[in-house]
Order: sequence, then structure tokens, then C-alpha cells
Amino acid sequence: MKYLESDKRFERYTITTALPYANGPVHIGHLAGVYVPADIYARYLRSMGEEVVLIGGSDEHGVPITIKARKEGVTSQDIVDRYHNIIKQSFEEFGISFDVYSRTTSKQHAETASDFFKRLYDNGKFVEQTSKQYYDPEAQAFLADRYIIGKCPHCGNEKAYGDQCEACGTSLSATDLINPKSTLSGAEPELRETKHWYLPLEQYEEFMRQWILEGHKEWKTNVYGQCKSWIEQGLQPRAVTRDLDWGVKVPLPDAEGKVLYVWFDAPIGYISFTQELMPNDWEKWWKDEKSKLVHFIGKDNIVFHCIIFPAMLKADGSYIMPENVPANEFLNLEGDKISTSRNWAVWLHEYLKDFPGKQDVLKYVLCANAPETKDNDFTWKDFQTRNNSELVAIYGNFVNRTMVLTHKYFGGKVPACGELNDLDRQTIEEMKQFPERIGRSIEQYRFREALNEMMNLARLGNKYLTENEPWKTIKTDESRTATVLNISLQICANLAILSEAFMPMTAEKLRNMLNMEKKAWFEAGSADLLNVETALSEPQLLFEQIDDKQIEAQINKLQETKKANEIAQAETEPQKENITYDDFAKLDIRVGTILSAEKVAKTKKLLKLTIDTGIDQRTIVSGIAEHYAPEDIVGRQVSVVVNLAPKVLKGIESRGMILMAENADGSLSFVSPDKQIKNGGGIS
Ligand code: MF3
Ligand code: ZN
Repeated sequence: MKYLESDKRFERYTITTALPYANGPVHIGHLAGVYVPADIYARYLRSMGEEVVLIGGSDEHGVPITIKARKEGVTSQDIVDRYHNIIKQSFEEFGISFDVYSRTTSKQHAETASDFFKRLYDNGKFVEQTSKQYYDPEAQAFLADRYIIGKCPHCGNEKAYGDQCEACGTSLSATDLINPKSTLSGAEPELRETKHWYLPLEQYEEFMRQWILEGHKEWKTNVYGQCKSWIEQGLQPRAVTRDLDWGVKVPLPDAEGKVLYVWFDAPIGYISFTQELMPNDWEKWWKDEKSKLVHFIGKDNIVFHCIIFPAMLKADGSYIMPENVPANEFLNLEGDKISTSRNWAVWLHEYLKDFPGKQDVLKYVLCANAPETKDNDFTWKDFQTRNNSELVAIYGNFVNRTMVLTHKYFGGKVPACGELNDLDRQTIEEMKQFPERIGRSIEQYRFREALNEMMNLARLGNKYLTENEPWKTIKTDESRTATVLNISLQICANLAILSEAFMPMTAEKLRNMLNMEKKAWFEAGSADLLNVETALSEPQLLFEQIDDKQIEAQINKLQETKKANEIAQAETEPQKENITYDDFAKLDIRVGTILSAEKVAKTKKLLKLTIDTGIDQRTIVSGIAEHYAPEDIVGRQVSVVVNLAPKVLKGIESRGMILMAENADGSLSFVSPDKQIKNGGGIS
């Protein structure tokens, strides 16, 4: 059953989660964006008695994997084996309730992807096109854009990649690069003709307009907006094959050395994994209009799941379309973009080691702070606060107080409910609304809101307990105390049902404490979940405080990463183009002494210096005020470029430049002779 009218026509749910690339472990960004919400959705629907399949697996093709393998001197298969295992195991331990978690190097997948391509090919759904691509004559291979480096035409970075310049962020095509070089051999690549198959997306434009822009106005605004902009810019043919030796082979006779493009084969993985799970029964999950297909993804995957994959499914003609694609924005970490290559992440497998048994805390924090409508930031401080002042102080505290008091006053048995007063009735009335309220939010993919409502039920319980003070009434009125604890226990039982989707380990612990069977979502909302006289187990803490030491350890770990990155960054600063000695000799650099120094008014960075250059005394304005105090540098010998053309800075004429060395953290240091030199002494 379900609450949302529009969902009532569906009989089963095919829920997919973006396949993580098997070139690194899974991190909190993946979890918050995709796996935590998908898991909540699936668990909720199962609890509502719906038929659900939650599909996941590793994305094991694509160029980044081949690059990593080459760097480490191992095979691509070695790389994907390593990370697939780490990822799969960490998901299992974390408790993402996949019905299947497979991989795109599986035999079934190769067969399904290959057949899919062949069917479209046989039905004339592709256009063949020959184009010129870079070829490495030494390595005898066509080059993926990532395998070519050269000078960026925009910023001059000498090490821009053929698909993107990481210095200025511009996306490029390999042919934009100045002086391109193959990273396979160092050779200069040449343009050669190669044939590929394209999916003519423009033929699906009208369909997309109808299906998405007219038919799915309810999609999240970020998703709808991206689709609209793609469709309105006009869809272009997309190559679905590549010249590469890692991937699913193109199943055609004249396609030696060609594989399916990773973004063609990966989404087919959703289908092939369903086949692995249900070899005889898979089709109804993908082809019956009564199945609701939902893709959970991050925002960088929108075009692939809303336009390209649906166009593939449409081209085949026998598949249903996704009903929704609730893509999330990005989660940052302590203010910086999460990055696998820079190791700027909280890795799931490390979290599980550092915080054993605290799966639900991470699920809770990532859902409470999920980037549903905008990018969000994960900080360890926030993690600690949410644990200590929400999970411990609200949820844990309510359950614990109720359990302890019941043991103390009623021997750990559910006491009977006496006559109800207004507050009791009102509390029960409020409690009854939670299953539907939370359920509706989940059905609309508003998981943060849903979680907050779940916590509101715990807040309701806490408030009820505090207002009724059963520890006081016990002295005068045992039956009143029994009523209050009965109702509080019923709220606990409701929590056990309604927190199952968000925090399954906690829900199970709570059920065990209450000696309660697992119940369906729609059974919640009742004040008769626990029978009178039921014996409860001993109270057990559901959550514990996380102290500053643990948080500091995590923050320190990140700071180490930051330092390591800064050093690595400085080391890889590309060398500038060669110059001749004559070029160098044009510079007139001399030793000078700072005679006076003062801050330039209304600036943060500038100092006005008077320098004895041996030739003259002159004024130089230098951007070092954040690194040196004026009074500390008078009398210092420094290196001065004396023939730099004068320039007026903040109304002061600056004649020359002081040479500075930059440290990894950005701090500056004078470049000074290591013994006293006569002012004007030349530097060469
Ligand atoms: N591996 C891709 C990523 O991490 C997602 C692939 S999703 C699928 O961005 F649809 F292709 F499977
Ligand atoms: Zn650039």
C-alpha cells in the first residue's frame, strides 16, 4: 500500500543506484547522494508490503580504470577486483539492503550489453560515422582524450588533459590542445580516421519533450531544469563505441579493437543484474507498466539517466521509462569538494573501522544533512553534535527513560493503561499521524523531512514523559504512572517500526528490548502495539556520546591529507618553457638592503619599502604584509629585480621587485644571500 495517489497504480518497484566506479572505495558523498536515500526508500516500501528490488553493482569499465592500472603496473582486472571487493563488503557491513550487488565485468553483463547493442544495430537504430581521432603511432592505439596531454589554449597550463584542463577547469576536446603528447609513449599523436556507432539523440527530442517536459513536471527542480536545458539546446548524436581494449567488445565483425562506451554498458548493468537475480522473472521488472522504475543518482549523472539511457530503452522499444530520477546535489567535506584522487573523503570502509557499530549514526547524519536541494557540507563537528544532541539526547534518552522507569516500577512488564486524560488522548492522536506523514515525505523523495518527522515522534515522547513526571506520580498514584508508561512504551514501539527505514540496526535493538516482532509500517500509529504484561528485556543504550578526542582524530587525519596534497601539488607544478641564456641575462637582479618599511594604507597585503640597491635608494611596493611585519625586516638583505618596468600601485610608484620563495602552505620567504654582500652585488 502507499499514501501517494499517483503511486497507487504501481505493483512493484525497480530501484536502481548509480554504479560506483571500481577505481576507488565508496565515500560519504556517494552515500549521502545515492545509497542512503535509495536504501531508505527500499526499506520503507518493503515495510509497506510492496514488492521491491534494490539493484546495485560496480562500474568496472572506462578509461580512468585503465589509467590507474597502467600507473600501478597491474591489469585493469586487478584494479576492479580490488575495489569491487572493498566496495561490496563495505556496503554489506554498512547495511545497504541491495537485493543484488554485481559488477559490469560479469559474464551475464557482457552478454546482455552486447545483445542490447546488437538489437539496436539490427533494427537500424544507430548511425555509423567516421571521424578523425588521435592515434599513437608508437603504442599503435587510438587514444582516449584522457591519454593525451598538452598545453591548454585557455590558461597555458602545459599539462592539460584531452578532456579537461584541471588548472582552469575548462572542458576540452583533445584537438584543442597545443603540442599534444600521448601519455602512453610520449609520442606526438596523429589524427586517423576511425568508425563509430552513434545514437541519434535528436530523433528522440520530441519524445523527451513530451515525456519529461510535459509529463514529469513533478521531478525535482534541479533534475527537471537540467533536462529542459539539454532538450532546448538541441540533442546531438552520441557515440556509443570507443577505440579501447577494456570494455564490452562491440559485437560486429568489422569492429576489432572497439568496445561499448562505458556509459552505454553501465546502465544496462541495472538490467543484467536483475537478470542475475531473477533469471526467469526479470522481465516484468523492466517491461511491465505496473513496475515503477526509479534511478537514484548524483547530479553529475542526470543527463545519462534522464536522456541517454531512456533513449536507449526507447530505441529498443520493449522497456518502461523511469518514473522518477531523484538526483541529489553534492556533499562537500569540511568546506572542500570531495575528491577520490586527492584522497579528500571520509571512506566508508575506514569509517566502519573507526566507528564500529555506528552504522546508523552515519546514516542518520547523512540523511539529516543530505544535499537534496543544494550542495551541503559534512563536518565532523556537525556529526558529533547530531549524535550527541539528537540521537543520544532525544531518541536514546526517551527510550532509555521509558525502559528504566518500567523496570523500576513495574518489574519490566508493560503496565496496564488506566483511564485517559486529555493530554493522553491528544498525544495518542498526534502519534497516529506519524506513519502517514513520514510515509508521504518518503514517497515524495523528501528524506530529510521524513527523518525529521521521525525524530519529532521521539520528541513527542520525550515531552509527554517530561510533562507527566511518572517518577513523581508513582508516590501517590500508581495507576496514573502505569498509564503514562504504557503510552510511552507504545510510542517506543511506534518508533521501532518507523525508524526501521532510516536506522535498521537501532530499530532491531529497540524491538529486542521491547520483545516485539517486526511489524509493517502501516501497523504503526496504534497505541496497542505492546500487550499488557509483556516482559521487556533489560534496557540497553541505543546511542552513546561521541567525545572530542574521536572527532579530533578524524580532523587530524584530514589535515594530514591536506598537507600531503599541498606538497604533491608543489612538486607537480609544471616546468615552464625553456629560455635561452640571453633571455635570462635580460634580468638585472641585485642584492639590496631594506632601509625602511611601512604598511600601505587600506590594503592587507602591501608594504612600501625603501631599498638601497647600491645604485640608488628607491621605493618598491611588495605584497608581503601578511608574511612580514615592517619592524622585523628593516636592515635585511634581499634580492631585487632592478630593471623591472616601474608600476604605480595604490598611488605609489614601485620600481622593481623583491624575489620571494613560496612554501607549500602559501607562506613567503625572502630569497637572501647567506652572507653579507655589498649592496648592488649582481645575482646571476
Ligand atoms: N560510475 C558512474 C559514476 O560514478 C555512474 C554509473 S551509473 C550507470 O558517475 F548508470 F551507468 F550505471
Ligand atoms: Zn587551462
